[in-house]
Amino acid sequence: MNVLVVGGGGREHAIVWALSKSPKVTGLFCAPGNAGIAQLAQCVDVKATDVSGMVAWAKEHHMDFVVVAPDDPLALGMVDALEEAGIPAFGPRENAAVIEASKAFSKDLMAKYHIPTAKHRTFTELDAALSYIEEQGAPIVVKADGLALGKGVVVAQTVEEAKEAAKSMMADGKFGAAGACVVIEECMTGPEVTVLAFCDGEHLVTMPASQDHKRAFDGNQGPNTGGMGAIAPVACYSPEVAKRCEAEIFRPTVAAMAAEGRPFQGVIYFGLMLTPQGPKVVEYNARFGDPECQAVLSLLDSDLMDIFEACRSGKLDQVDVRWKDGAACCLVLASGGYPASYPKGLPITGLEEAGKSAVVFHAGTARNEAGDIVTNGGRVLGVTAVAVDLEGAIAKAYAAAKPIHFDGMHFRTDIGHAF
Ligand code: AMP
Ligand code: GLY
Repeated sequence: MNVLVVGGGGREHAIVWALSKSPKVTGLFCAPGNAGIAQLAQCVDVKATDVSGMVAWAKEHHMDFVVVAPDDPLALGMVDALEEAGIPAFGPRENAAVIEASKAFSKDLMAKYHIPTAKHRTFTELDAALSYIEEQGAPIVVKADGLALGKGVVVAQTVEEAKEAAKSMMADGKFGAAGACVVIEECMTGPEVTVLAFCDGEHLVTMPASQDHKRAFDGNQGPNTGGMGAIAPVACYSPEVAKRCEAEIFRPTVAAMAAEGRPFQGVIYFGLMLTPQGPKVVEYNARFGDPECQAVLSLLDSDLMDIFEACRSGKLDQVDVRWKDGAACCLVLASGGYPASYPKGLPITGLEEAGKSAVVFHAGTARNEAGDIVTNGGRVLGVTAVAVDLEGAIAKAYAAAKPIHFDGMHFRTDIGHAF
């Protein structure tokens, strides 16, 4: 089979890596890919958000299957466009990807189907939002409705801070159209856990629970990032908690989407908070998380292509999805300055040495004219190790990362120990 993966970050490298092990996949392509992905797949110069360009390329080059991994092409309806052109595609259609693309949609869905989440109200008028903040008091959470690269959420400790956030989103247009509508919600407490699940519109198969580290610096300090590291599985996600999540959150969500005429096929991301009142949904995403994907797929012991095909054909209940015993840790090495501005084009050394004891997933990398691998993004690499237990995986990832160097490189030293 000729398979095209859309995207070019660490998550896509992990997907390409897993697919490269499938005997079914004889031709592997990635658009746009990166320098690491290029070692396993042929990279294609089409932007991940270029829907018509992607369909045209896939058709012309006889792709048998396309995996759409990032949120923006999903929200733009890339899966719909591919399927309409007769190309089987993995990922939710536009009408299901809205579970991530619109927080107002997902909050309303949870309210309608009694899925536990923080109490909320949606506002399109600034004055009404400000009075609601006054009335509720702090701490309180203000979220831009649309996609804002994980940066459209303010957990405000004071009423003033919350009002400022609402103003900057609604009046000053800080997130453009994404902030024209805001969701204001109750502040929850408790450990955060990610559960990813394969979904075929009707059935769902959960993956080992994982945990992202969103803040830039140790001790969960500093600005929010796309994610500085991930572990899987997570100790606080006990079998009892898992059972409750299945019954109260996962199955009801998949059933709700089907009942709404928006069957969800793809990977659904449950961002959960284990509150004193029980597990609640913080957010849904319509795709694998990054870097959770790198940790979780490292533990997969089945053929990912079989699973993707089963999701698309509604036969997920017929595949055997197996996981390795043990644990995984993905340590992100980021550019100096990230998540604010950072330089690009800096040479990276030590990759070969690191690759001897861990899998080094590339995120923001490229080759320069001389053929050297250089930095090309904020999150540069995700050094991912598997061991019999979590402590072993963490130690192995940090040890493997030691020889890697690029100017300004920064990483957290507390992945797996921060919560
Ligand atoms: P989101 O983009 O919705 O995942 O939010 C980003 C982060 O903000 C989450 O990972 C949480 O740490 C925090 N957050 C979001 N909503 C809430 C809430 N209702 N209560 C407490 N923290 C929240
Ligand atoms: N790691 C969080 C996300 O991918 O949204």
